[in-house]
Amino acid sequence: MSMLERIEDLKNKSADFKIESKEMLENFRLKFLSKKGEINDLFESFKQVAGEEKREIGKQLNVLRQSIEAKFNESKEKFSSEKKFPADAADLSLPTNANTIGSLHPISLVKNSIINIFEKIGFDVEYGPEIEDDWHNFTALNFGENHPARDMQDTFFVEKEPRGNFALRTHTSSVQVRLMETVKPPIRALMPGRVYRNEDVSARSNCFFHQIEGLYIDENVSFSDLKQTLYYFVSQFFGEREIRFRPSYFPFTEPSAEMDIYLGMETEQDSRLTKGTGWLEILGCGMVDPSVLKNCGIDPDKYSGFAFGMGIDRIAMLKYGIKDIRQMFENDIRFLEQF
Ligand code: DAH
Repeated sequence: MSMLERIEDLKNKSADFKIESKEMLENFRLKFLSKKGEINDLFESFKQVAGEEKREIGKQLNVLRQSIEAKFNESKEKFSSEKKFPADAADLSLPTNANTIGSLHPISLVKNSIINIFEKIGFDVEYGPEIEDDWHNFTALNFGENHPARDMQDTFFVEKEPRGNFALRTHTSSVQVRLMETVKPPIRALMPGRVYRNEDVSARSNCFFHQIEGLYIDENVSFSDLKQTLYYFVSQFFGEREIRFRPSYFPFTEPSAEMDIYLGMETEQDSRLTKGTGWLEILGCGMVDPSVLKNCGIDPDKYSGFAFGMGIDRIAMLKYGIKDIRQMFENDIRFLEQF
């Protein structure tokens, strides 16, 4: 074969060579472009080519080498870019969607602002489990076995005797017990969390909701400390408003009270909310019953304390004028965006 024929032959061979994988690409390189490859062979033979032919053959050889190199580089790029961007990958050059920034849920907003208010007067935040045993949810809090107060709270039992007696906690007061059992007074804590009751779901009540519990135990804590603390809270959260305490009953406090704030009846909503009295019940509270202290290993002769508990959902509804508690849990973005 003459040099020109060999060039033509190699041109065809290299053009016909199919490169469909990385392996084939490497074979292509070894066959044509490596030191022992066919292009080098041709250049070796080129050294023997005589005078006048040299120019033409040299030119053709260079063109051939360039085209083989171009084919190699093109396939190389294809395989390396395939590795970075598989065919089904997202198109990274597309402009992004406009970001929507989320907002805090009204329950979180209210919870956080209650916590902020009490943190200023030295209250810590504590949490307890949502599946609770009988001792922490009821017994330690003075709900005797057949205590009628157990009926006040319709309970979702998780596991009944004899295997164990566990329920979804019906109130955050259970966390008081856990705290008093493990921490020595003075104790000043807020305990927010979700609670559960077996109730019919309606616009005003749900089978789960949120409470925040407060507890203050120290020497010489009195009912007037309770009153001042709650008055401070109301003034910070609702603004200067009248409050009143009505005697009430909870098994774990003695005396017990419910606290109302005065909304007035100027607007239709206020008179509806307050059932025509102007007063709205906000929370339950009282002095921790000495036997509860004893149950938790705290000496009632040395220490006394107060506790209170309020419904976060209820206060959020009041604050934002939400009419149906179920909206809080539907996660409808149009609702949540408003806060
Ligand atoms: N645990 C009560 C309830 O769920 C609320 C409550 C009342 C909590 C009085 C307290 C308290 O700490 O002192 O209805």
